[in-house]
Amino acid sequence: MSATVSSSEPFSTEGYFHTQRPPAGLEEKSEKMHAFVEQWKAVKGKKVVLVTVSSPAFSILLIVIRAVELQYRWSRTPGTRGATSAEYFLSQGYAVIFLHRLHSLRPFSRHYSHSLNPFLDLLSIVPSSSSSSSSIVVSPEHTQTLLPILKAYHESQSSGTLLSVEFQTVNDYLWLLKAVTASMASLGRRGMYYLAAAVSDFFLPEEKVAEHKIQSNKGTLSLEMDQVPKVMRPLVQEWTPEGYIVSFKLETDTALLIPKSRAALSRYGHQLVIGNELHRRKHEVVFVERATPSSKGTGDDQIKGSVTPPIVAGSDLGVVGFPRKEEYKETWLRLDDLKNDGHAGGKGRDGEVEIEEMIVKELLNRHQYWMDAKATRE
Ligand code: PMT
Repeated sequence: MSATVSSSEPFSTEGYFHTQRPPAGLEEKSEKMHAFVEQWKAVKGKKVVLVTVSSPAFSILLIVIRAVELQYRWSRTPGTRGATSAEYFLSQGYAVIFLHRLHSLRPFSRHYSHSLNPFLDLLSIVPSSSSSSSSIVVSPEHTQTLLPILKAYHESQSSGTLLSVEFQTVNDYLWLLKAVTASMASLGRRGMYYLAAAVSDFFLPEEKVAEHKIQSNKGTLSLEMDQVPKVMRPLVQEWTPEGYIVSFKLETDTALLIPKSRAALSRYGHQLVIGNELHRRKHEVVFVERATPSSKGTGDDQIKGSVTPPIVAGSDLGVVGFPRKEEYKETWLRLDDLKNDGHAGGKGRDGEVEIEEMIVKELLNRHQYWMDAKATRE
């Protein structure tokens, strides 16, 4: 298989939704998400966040016989960022729609994934005289760690504050994103969009997907893929003009993080880009946003996210902020800064602070500020 990029016209977002069929189950999932949003909209002041997770796939056959998963850049992510962040959003009182790829990590159960902490290792058998009445308990050495996770999980279940919705392909993802945004837009500024999914830049449109098994005796396999439309633009400017939108930028070269994040802000006009370098993503991230309420971006779009909160340097999580240019500011969050400040520990499985705890804490301020700015104007 060879990989080349040609210059054919990319799909517009509108063209995409006109030509690509909605996936099976879309209606049912959309109704669920809509009901969830309506339920929490009725609760005064309740904030709702959409967390997108992991990376959608695409298939080259209508019926998948052998899966081919192309790793364009580094695109298959376990979903740690989203699953972990969702837990912290819940603990901060948000209702969470968790839009994730099938089999990616999930809030709470992520602590016990099959590779990290197989659940059978947590259990012990309490023997009895007859083997049929033996019981199973969590081994005492694991109980202390499991207890707070289980409590938080039960709390999310009984309160109904977590809704998980699965996708598999890029097509599922795009249709679901559009549907959930249509429901969440009515929340106005109470809605936050935390787009941690790594969405493939290329996909196979329906008309190019093979109907029958591809025969290997016919030679090499060539694939011509189309560009996935850039839905960030309509998302920000049409689908949810009032939502607080956080996108992510992943790079392998740290030097590109800030320029690329600024470019995304400028292009789409949303509120915040969180930059992360592949190998350092669990240790540090950078928030890139507009520096002053009145400043405009340099790109080709109208800027909607022109209200930014003050930098919170010196917060108890040890955030360091330093505006560099007139138009943008960057705020680095680093776990090392916490350690140097002697921070007492966090809510991670082994009592460690996770970078997502810092991220969510920072976002609370910004989202509240975004909501208050609207209230002040009214
Ligand atoms: O699962 P982990 O191991 O914890 O990894 C988490 C992560 C590193 C994947 C995550 O933190 C991250 O950086 N995700 C975004 C990766 C990226 O570079 O995305 P992008 O440049 O393709 O897209 C930019 C933004 O637009 C992203 O927020 C993406 O979710 C969003 N997007 C992009 C295209 C599209 N069609 N729809 C989108 O919503």
